[in-house]
Amino acid sequence: MSGISLNVKGLGVRYGGTGSSFFSRGEGVWALKSVSFSMCAGETLSVVGESGSGKTTLLRSLLGLVRPTVGEIELWGRSLAAMTDDERLAVRRRCGYVPQDPYGSLPPTLTVLGAVIEPWSIVRGSRGETRERGIAKAEELLLELKLPEDLWGARVKYSLSGGQRQRVAVARALILDPEVLLCDEPTAMQDVSTRGEVLDVLIARVRRGMSMILVTHDLLLARQAAKQALVLYRGEIVESGGTDELFERPSHEYTRSLLAALPRI
Ligand SMILES: Nc1ncnc2c1ncn2[C@@H]1O[C@H](COP(=O)(O)OP(=O)(O)OP(=O)(O)O)[C@@H](O)[C@H]1O
Ligand SMILES: [Mg+2]
Repeated sequence: MSGISLNVKGLGVRYGGTGSSFFSRGEGVWALKSVSFSMCAGETLSVVGESGSGKTTLLRSLLGLVRPTVGEIELWGRSLAAMTDDERLAVRRRCGYVPQDPYGSLPPTLTVLGAVIEPWSIVRGSRGETRERGIAKAEELLLELKLPEDLWGARVKYSLSGGQRQRVAVARALILDPEVLLCDEPTAMQDVSTRGEVLDVLIARVRRGMSMILVTHDLLLARQAAKQALVLYRGEIVESGGTDELFERPSHEYTRSLLAALPRI
């Protein structure tokens, strides 16, 4: 375990409206309020919370896709806000992202293989890599994620189910061997068996040193996939800690209600 790769200090994001006080009246929605946490290289963090609690906004802020209204985000010791566009792009390429919506986020006109290779094609020149190596890596990932081979040449737009699209999105996010993977509900459209397959792929990467932030509604997955968790409620962290401790002895009422809602056998 090495130094801090991610440090979030007092992050607040407001959509619409003006001013930077959480208490300012009027228009706008504070999607995140006073969010602070840090992560070291190789660590794993699950982010859970009800719909609208700010999970996607958090991931998008970390990637520089949403600008913080207040607070600061540091990646590998550098303030995201202070970076030049080139520096931000370089940092962005160290992060993989599995967006929440596998329908809107994949390039619809590409084939499955084309969609997975696309990030590789963009950077391979600067990394001195070949297209053939990219194809081999993409095929390896699709095999690992158990996407049927007869779909590899099919167009994303016409031929894939939601769960299959999600697996393509995971492969696409992993092809550049990210140091940090940000996943937004990566298994929401999987059935029980394919969910396990996706989880195995993610865990194998974590064992090889990748850090991961996993957003999920699935508390079992949150516990299986990560050592640490934080619970968001209306844009604020209401509880955080080790996943085992947190889900066995939740202290906040909201976390208790999440756990109470789990189906029991
Ligand atoms: N682009 C936007 N413009 C305005 N408001 C937004 C925008 N994106 C999100 N919000 C609002 O910010 C809040 C947090 O949204 P966010 O998408 O981060 O929640 P979430 O926890 O990811 O929810 P879900 O579990 O449904 O995906 C919500 O109240 C939402 O309405
Ligand atoms: Mg979301």
